[in-house]
Amino acid sequence: MGELIVMNHPLIQHKLTILRKKETGSKDFREIVREMSALMGYEVTRDLETEEVEIETPLTKTVGKKISGKKVAVVPILRAGLGMVDGVLSVVPGARIGHIGMFRDPDTLNPVTYYCKLPKDISERTIILLDPMLATGGSLVAAIDELKKLGAKDIRSLNILAAPEGIEVVQKSHPDVDIYVGSVDDYLDEHGYIIPGLGDAGDRLFGTK
Ligand code: PRP
Ligand code: URA
Repeated sequence: MGELIVMNHPLIQHKLTILRKKETGSKDFREIVREMSALMGYEVTRDLETEEVEIETPLTKTVGKKISGKKVAVVPILRAGLGMVDGVLSVVPGARIGHIGMFRDPDTLNPVTYYCKLPKDISERTIILLDPMLATGGSLVAAIDELKKLGAKDIRSLNILAAPEGIEVVQKSHPDVDIYVGSVDDYLDEHGYIIPGLGDAGDRLFGTK
């Protein structure tokens, strides 16, 4: 079973409260998603491998550590995942970036894939999938299906909010994928919205409705 990691860091929780508020406008919403993504990016990379390297400071020789092993690819699920890219890149600046375009059909809630462009060596990278919202889990399962079809083996998901229903669906379909979330909310309403949630993340990020 994939691990569920709830990031209870006070800064993450404080920023999440501002995101949830209905009066938070697009400019602030975007900024806070970016800040939260940087903090969450720090947590999601906590287990990256390091190796010792010999270096010279201005005073002496010493041994430091550098990231080794697999390189990282950051893959936002369009559209809302785009809002998380800059924040994660601020802590992993060398990561390659792939894109998966996906939206939920508003009637069936089924995900529809409309775009996919990934780095060529995706099978050799640690992939951080980005989407602020994990609701029914349909989009995330479909994105992971697509990534695995193209050879991806090491995938972790970074989501600001998740519903218990969606977590269960993803863990059943892809037990090898760890899920990092800012909060597990209460339930999904009849329209597939996370309650209490923050509303439609894409619309709030980009000022559409
Ligand atoms: C939202 C969200 C997720 C998806 C989650 O995207 O950003 O991708 O819904 O729902 P699910 O877990 O039930 O699949 P949406 O379809 O609204 O598209 P957008 O990002 O273009 O706004
Ligand atoms: N997508 C969103 O943007 N918000 C939700 O609450 C559920 C899915």
